[in-house]
Amino acid sequence: MVKAKVSFICQECDFQSPKWLGKCPQCQSWNSFAEALPPAFEMQAQTPLNELRTSFRAVIPGDSVFYDKAHTWPSLQALQESPVETHTRFSTGIEELNRVLGGGLIRDSFTLLGGDPGIGKSTLLLQMCQGLLKKQPDLKLLYVSGEESIPQMKNRAQRLGLPASSQLFFGAETQIEKVFLGVKELQPHLLIVDSIQTFSTASIPGAPGSMNQVREVTTRLMTLAKTAGIAIWLVGHVTKEGTIAGPKTVEHMVDTVLYFEGEGGYPYRLLRTVKNRFGNTRELGVFEMDGEGLREVANPSQLFLNDRKEALPGVAITCSLEGSRPLLVELQALVTPSGLAMPRRTAVGFDHSRISLLAAILEKHLKLPLAQQDLFFNVVGGLKLSEPACDLAAAMAIWSSIAEKPIPTGWLCLGEVGLTGEMRRVSQLELRLQEAHRLGFQTAIIPENTPTTLLEKIKKQHSMRLILLGRIERLRNFFS
Ligand code: TYD
Ligand code: MG
Repeated sequence: MVKAKVSFICQECDFQSPKWLGKCPQCQSWNSFAEALPPAFEMQAQTPLNELRTSFRAVIPGDSVFYDKAHTWPSLQALQESPVETHTRFSTGIEELNRVLGGGLIRDSFTLLGGDPGIGKSTLLLQMCQGLLKKQPDLKLLYVSGEESIPQMKNRAQRLGLPASSQLFFGAETQIEKVFLGVKELQPHLLIVDSIQTFSTASIPGAPGSMNQVREVTTRLMTLAKTAGIAIWLVGHVTKEGTIAGPKTVEHMVDTVLYFEGEGGYPYRLLRTVKNRFGNTRELGVFEMDGEGLREVANPSQLFLNDRKEALPGVAITCSLEGSRPLLVELQALVTPSGLAMPRRTAVGFDHSRISLLAAILEKHLKLPLAQQDLFFNVVGGLKLSEPACDLAAAMAIWSSIAEKPIPTGWLCLGEVGLTGEMRRVSQLELRLQEAHRLGFQTAIIPENTPTTLLEKIKKQHSMRLILLGRIERLRNFFS
């Protein structure tokens, strides 16, 4: 018989090693290695189907009720034989949340909601329960928390205005077996587990939050979602590095990964889709946190723009596409002489290396004296931009700060800047310009190689002045 291979796994970052290590070579954590569990069952060529069925069912001991109903080994279907399955979606009653989920909550879906502690995850989920019950009063919902007591949860629910006679049930538990018992008894349509780091199973060793426990608890919940037809939401706290603890394992197992983010000091909260098996990724929902919980912001473009009247040096406006939603954002740059041998490059809300790259392009093609200057960069409103279409605005903000010459108000900058200084096309130009026009922008600088048919179409739609730019250095006249 072949001896089972033993391997060790870092509880912090999932790094695997054939032997135990004191320090993880990937994330540098000390004393984080634990023995990896063997997989629940190993599929061998000679395993008879019946045995396989038994071992598959045994993944969740004591909960075979969900499997015994109809779920034996899945039958195989060719594409043309199977009817096209349409997912039943429930409205969450919160339009921003529906949008992020791709149109509503799906019955047997498994969703992970990640975010910093205190950002508002539990609040959002309670409000989702409220919305679901408002739209579909017959739904039964179970909210199990490993962090708060039942009175605490009830208190918060009352403060958020949830009706007392609702179909919402609370549980304060940390053992997943007990959650399963609760589910069996209640048969809810939605189960919320808050948070994954506080739950554990008695069947394997390890403290709650350890890699083995996170993996095991998630596996069980995934099977439950898929076999019992329950929508399950899992809350996950984010580690310092910005990923959910036990990251890859959890993210791979769920259908949808949402991140709830916000910048300290701002009341805005952004809900982003990172992965979605049932809809678009990169969708964005915008909320505002106030004394009565989270409020939807239906028209967020205005939110990230300052309403100042006069133009200032170092400021440029662009339009970033977040999922299907165009958002106008203000970028700010401050360039000051540096006393350091290695001048500082600081960016908030924008990729740090992209800013260095744009600085190098400006230095090379425009001979701007950036090598001896500190450069500070900020995206207003706490938004994090990742689109290359924002390059031109970033470059122009830097340039405007050096030249101490403002870009006029009502100007929009759009375009990706290549390493050679050429302007590259942006996607969904029409949509972005439409949004800018709606908010009163009159001029847009866009890449020269935009197709003529598209330009004509845009000109027919509105009277925005378009400045076509082929290469970044052509802006020299503007700033001289
Ligand atoms: P919470 O949902 O508990 O965060 P998480 O579950 O992500 O840890 O939100 C906690 C924060 O939200 C807390 O700092 C208080 C604030 N908050 C409000 O400002 N208004 C409200 O109505 C509620 C319920 C919370
Ligand atoms: Mg919470």
